[in-house]
Amino acid sequence: MMSKRKVKDAHLPVGECFTELQRILRERLCHQQLPDKPVGLEAQHKNLLELLKRTAVHGESNSVLIVGPRGAGKTMLLKCVLRDLLEEKEVHKNLLQVHLNGLLQTDDRIALKEITRQLHLENVVGDKVFGSFAENLAFLLEALKKGDRSSSLPVLFILDEFDLFAHHKNQTLLYNLLDVSQSAQSPIAVVGITCRLDVLELLEKRVKSRFSHRQIHLLSSLAFEEYVERVRTQLSLPDDFPDGKFAEDWNDSIKTLCEDKSVEDVLQRHFNSSKDFRSMQMLLMLCLSRVSVAKPAIKPADLLEASRLCFADAKANMLHGLSILELCLIIAMKHLNDVYEGEPFNLQMVHNEFKKFLQRKSNSMYKFEQPVIMKAFEHLQQLELIRPADSSAAKTQREYQLMRLMVDNSQIMEAMQKYPQCPTDVKQWAMSAFG
Ligand SMILES: Nc1ncnc2c1ncn2[C@@H]1O[C@H](COP(=O)(O)OP(=O)(O)OP(=O)(O)O)[C@@H](O)[C@H]1O
Ligand SMILES: [Mg+2]
Repeated sequence: MMSKRKVKDAHLPVGECFTELQRILRERLCHQQLPDKPVGLEAQHKNLLELLKRTAVHGESNSVLIVGPRGAGKTMLLKCVLRDLLEEKEVHKNLLQVHLNGLLQTDDRIALKEITRQLHLENVVGDKVFGSFAENLAFLLEALKKGDRSSSLPVLFILDEFDLFAHHKNQTLLYNLLDVSQSAQSPIAVVGITCRLDVLELLEKRVKSRFSHRQIHLLSSLAFEEYVERVRTQLSLPDDFPDGKFAEDWNDSIKTLCEDKSVEDVLQRHFNSSKDFRSMQMLLMLCLSRVSVAKPAIKPADLLEASRLCFADAKANMLHGLSILELCLIIAMKHLNDVYEGEPFNLQMVHNEFKKFLQRKSNSMYKFEQPVIMKAFEHLQQLELIRPADSSAAKTQREYQLMRLMVDNSQIMEAMQKYPQCPTDVKQWAMSAFG
């Protein structure tokens, strides 16, 4: 790749090179710039493009779900497909698109208003009053028909955070959209984007039965070598960088960086915890922000430091915001975890462990009634620092529900060190080996 480049002899002043480098890499890492081709998602890209083409070109109705974990590239995949779809010759340039997001359109009334707005039909609707949601939607789709009423423009309905629409009253929007997509009324494609694998379980029977059951999954089966390769390409400068020599040196330095043993260790840790692009880009952005004329390369130490920042993670930070009681419960759970080697525990066991600690102190300043402890436990669960061990939990009484701790010992110890004015005895208890 490097040799085929038309090496430009132009030499820019070093300062400008770095400004340009920062601009290009920042755009790539944090401005959500669309990649030319979504890496590693070729099959999904092709699949979705074909599907939407059938609607856009042939007017076939359809429905599909894009499912994958956070940051895996679902929204990016869809945007790439839409971009490429519009480049196809047969596709009508003013293919209609309606973009909804479950976080914004929190009920179907708002959603319908937004659909009307995005289809530019506010004037057509005027102050008409509709009997039902279905009637209103049918009116909108009817309004899109061509003058001779023979054919209708295809409309793509994109529903990001699709699972949230399932919480709307009677799932009216989903029902009606999927119903239209199943009948010959108007050509529409309904594309749902979600990170919930179990999303179909959320749909009512009559809604589910109208869905095509097509799903596109973005589950990564990435190998570590590929991950390192992605890191390298994300940090490399493109062939058309204005100063060829500068780009070549930079790319070489990145290659060396990626071969470093300590860098490999850091990347391995990130790879093990999450393989997605978003968290990788976060890590690289932290490294990049230190680069300047005065510090012209990314060193392994920078990556180490960036990784530390990334892993000073939300959970450990959350521990700082806990009350002393909640912190004590976490410590009790840590000890239970150590003793029972990670077996799940219930509130009663945690409370007993906590009591053991209190009993060792003659004049205890910590006196808590059971309901207070219960409340603290609930709060920890809301923060997802603890979670039910299995789904049958709902049937058991709260105190006996089996739970698991979602933070590990190193996170707890780190939080303890930084906890403002943590009582010494609590600290000692946390560090003691036997509860
Ligand atoms: N295969 C890929 N190739 C290049 N960039 C990618 C790829 N996958 C993800 N990215 C980048 O990672 C970032 C996160 O992707 P995106 O926003 O699409 O995630 P998402 O799956 O929609 O997450 P969420 O569920 O939180 O909405 C974006 O900046 C995107 O450009
Ligand atoms: Mg998204």
